Amino acid sequence: MKKSVPLNIVNRIFNLGNVQLVTSAYGDKVNISTVAWLTPVEKEPPYVIVAVDKNSYSFQLIEKSGEFVLNTPTANLIEIVKFVGSVSGRNIDKVKESGLTLVNGKTIQTPSILECVANVEFIVKSIVPLETHAIIMGLARHAEVDEEFFSDHWLLEEKEIYLVHHAGSNFFCTTKFLTKVKSR
Ligand SMILES: Cc1cc2nc3c(=O)[nH]c(=O)nc-3n(C[C@H](O)[C@H](O)[C@H](O)COP(=O)(O)O)c2cc1C
Repeated sequence: MKKSVPLNIVNRIFNLGNVQLVTSAYGDKVNISTVAWLTPVEKEPPYVIVAVDKNSYSFQLIEKSGEFVLNTPTANLIEIVKFVGSVSGRNIDKVKESGLTLVNGKTIQTPSILECVANVEFIVKSIVPLETHAIIMGLARHAEVDEEFFSDHWLLEEKEIYLVHHAGSNFFCTTKFLTKVKSR
């Protein structure tokens, strides 16, 4: 069961630097791909930046629609993370091939992925083109997280939830160790 998350702690969903599945949509086209280059940059308003290849199908759809969703995969989805991050939606229907389930967006037209433990809906505030990539700055409009795995932070080991990190090439690792540090 997913619960809404206050937008001023959206940054905590992404703080660990784990990879995300980005959903993008325009008209009747919907696409899924993988992004690792992202970070929160403001708490209030909740801004997150993502570096997206300007030649990717995702970029094309996001630029046209002005919105996207970041969906948080767990270790059971690693094969899909690699697959949707390796082929372009221009040539293949990655929604169908991945077997992932789309659910309607709450505040935007772009759908979310049911199987992911968090879904954050963004509208695009600005796009800064670089060489091959562009920095897309999104403003979070709505965030939902599986309540079993997130209180006001990821419960990780306590709930045996393993988020996915890209170690390079075909290698991935997951989050495991969580400790509470005393405040001074
Ligand atoms: C683990 C992983 C992380 C990735 N991170 C990014 C990223 O941060 N930005 C990006 O533009 N592409 C990234 N990619 C590559 C895209 O997912 C890939 O180019 C994809 O095929 C684009 O698909 P599209 O054309 O359907 O949008 C990543 C791929 C993998 C496997």
